[in-house]
Amino acid sequence: MARKTTRRSNGRRSPWAAAALIGIGLLLTGGAYAGASAAMAATDDTAETASTLTVEDGKKLFQANCATCHGLDLQGTADGPSLYGVGELAVEFQVATGRMPLQMSGPQAPQKPVQFTDAQIQAMAAWVQSAAPGPSYPSDETIDGEGDVSRGAELFRINCAMCHNVAAAGGALTEGKYAPGLQSTSALHMYAAMVTGPQNMPVFNDMTLTTEDKRDIISALLFLQENESPGGFSLGSLGPVSEGLFIWIFGIGALIALTVWVTAKSN
Ligand code: HEC
Ligand code: HEC
Repeated sequence: MARKTTRRSNGRRSPWAAAALIGIGLLLTGGAYAGASAAMAATDDTAETASTLTVEDGKKLFQANCATCHGLDLQGTADGPSLYGVGELAVEFQVATGRMPLQMSGPQAPQKPVQFTDAQIQAMAAWVQSAAPGPSYPSDETIDGEGDVSRGAELFRINCAMCHNVAAAGGALTEGKYAPGLQSTSALHMYAAMVTGPQNMPVFNDMTLTTEDKRDIISALLFLQENESPGGFSLGSLGPVSEGLFIWIFGIGALIALTVWVTAKSN
């Protein structure tokens, strides 16, 4: 009898108890994380609004963080190219996408978490621009995303799709380099990339693509970012490779499952 009661107390635990426990655990950690990141975001905001920095501050920031590779007077060193004439927009692009300051040399500067506030980036950019001018910020209209989307998409297919893929999903280039996906790039950085031509990307100056052309391309890319794929799952927009793999695994998998089921029935 005594044995039986212990058995029962073991068996009484519902199979759902484990699932419920895991669910509660996930909710708690998720809640704590959301709370913590909201708090972090709040402190970030206050730090940024409190500061307006001068060109002189930008010079100091540059000398502390960038001069080891780019030289105290932008002249360049063995570890980094000269920044004469790259302009404030190149600094904005490189630093605000986390590419600079570079940490390790490799085939291509990777995007990392951004290490400076907007005000600090603008101050460094302003100093580089004052020392040796180059391409500068676009007008608000150029990056407002209100241009001709279908014309922009066509220009993108002609000028950019061979590296960035027709759906702007990105693609591999030679020697370990890659054209990144453009699904989360801001309008300002799209413009900056075209004007400054980072690394293996060619420069698209006003002779190759007018400001109007650039506005249309930016509008088309923003349209792509905002609109879901109309055909259901986009499967990474990689084209026939991922689509073929999908039908092989799920389509043929379903057929095999069906045949197994049918033969199991007939036994
Ligand atoms: C460890 C060395 C290193 C440090 C530190 C560094 N850079 Fe660079 N930077 C490079 C190299 C190498 C390149 C060129 C290759 C590349 O883009 O990957 C480059 C490229 C650039 C370019 C693009 C130049 C062009 O021709 O378009 C800019 C702008 C730039 N850096 C700005 C900065 C700024 C601003 C900082 C400081 C916040 C910084 N870099 C810190 C090594 C460095
Ligand atoms: C020859 C190949 C090539 C072509 C053509 C090209 N790109 Fe790029 N693009 C690149 C490479 C490589 C990078 C990454 C550079 C880096 O990381 O420094 C890049 C980076 C970018 C970025 C920055 C993405 C980010 O998230 O920071 C944007 C935006 C961009 N390209 C837009 C365009 C547009 C628009 C066109 C057409 C007008 C175009 N590219 C044409 C190779 C190309």
